[in-house]
Amino acid sequence: MAQILDGKRVRDEILEELKPRIAQLTRKPGLAVVLVGNDPASEVYVGSKTKTCAELGMVSEKLTPPATISTEELLQIVADLNAKPEIDGILVQMPLPRHIDTQRVLDAIAPEKDVDGFHPTNVGNLSIGRPGPKPCTPSGVMELLKRHQISVAGKHAVVVGRSDIVGKPMAMLLLHAHATVTICHSRTADLAAECRRADILVGAIGRPAMLTRQHMKPGAVLIDVGINRLDNRDEVVKIFGETSEKTSAFDKRGSVLVGDMHPYDAAELSSSWTPVPGGVGPLTIAMLMVNTVEAAERRQA
Ligand code: GUN
Repeated sequence: MAQILDGKRVRDEILEELKPRIAQLTRKPGLAVVLVGNDPASEVYVGSKTKTCAELGMVSEKLTPPATISTEELLQIVADLNAKPEIDGILVQMPLPRHIDTQRVLDAIAPEKDVDGFHPTNVGNLSIGRPGPKPCTPSGVMELLKRHQISVAGKHAVVVGRSDIVGKPMAMLLLHAHATVTICHSRTADLAAECRRADILVGAIGRPAMLTRQHMKPGAVLIDVGINRLDNRDEVVKIFGETSEKTSAFDKRGSVLVGDMHPYDAAELSSSWTPVPGGVGPLTIAMLMVNTVEAAERRQA
């Protein structure tokens, strides 16, 4: 039987370990979350971020400028947060509306308050193995592996997806943990063949159930970072069949969440795998809290 990697358990452990660290600080750590516009998925994520802050006794500030905000106005919001002493971490929720210059906004966040690890200084620090905030989802994956005693050194890790938020930093963290790393993407010549070489396969492409048994080496560790919401019944049936739990769930709720990997194939072939939801997802917010507490610790030292 394949082992299910339990993201909720690991999240709870990580959050529990933060409590004494927060209690040690002279001031409660403060996180500012900037959500531009009203993308429903982003609203859900931001809601859970501020809720988790409250549960840990941290301060959170939520700013919700309209989608019509200009780059200059958003830069001013970031500058104000940079200057605010009680704010230790700043997160600008991605993606931003197309008219906004995302790179300028990310560059404007003070590196010491950049709890996403997206600032070029922190990307550079990660690349050369210096301390600093690391992108939350990939660092959550590393915690999930570590806390399930899955060794990485010497393994062949294949990361599917080359985004700045997940794929690239994921590859870098696996490399620092001494894996041999391959990064695949939309132009990879034979994706299935590359993936079948993976002892640890990470899916971060945002395509529902695209990675199937033909991509999986029997006994591999399968880490599914995708969170795709399906609201078309035909698509759900095509992936899971007419009589399946997912299809029944869809019939009740009108949508279901599906990862980048086919969960039935993953459960059958892997040594361990992450379900969607409940695998990698819960760790992103936990690691954001870690980054915020660490930023506060550095700023208060
Ligand atoms: N959108 C999806 N994931 C993330 C994340 O980790 N950070 C930010 N800022 N936006 C996101």
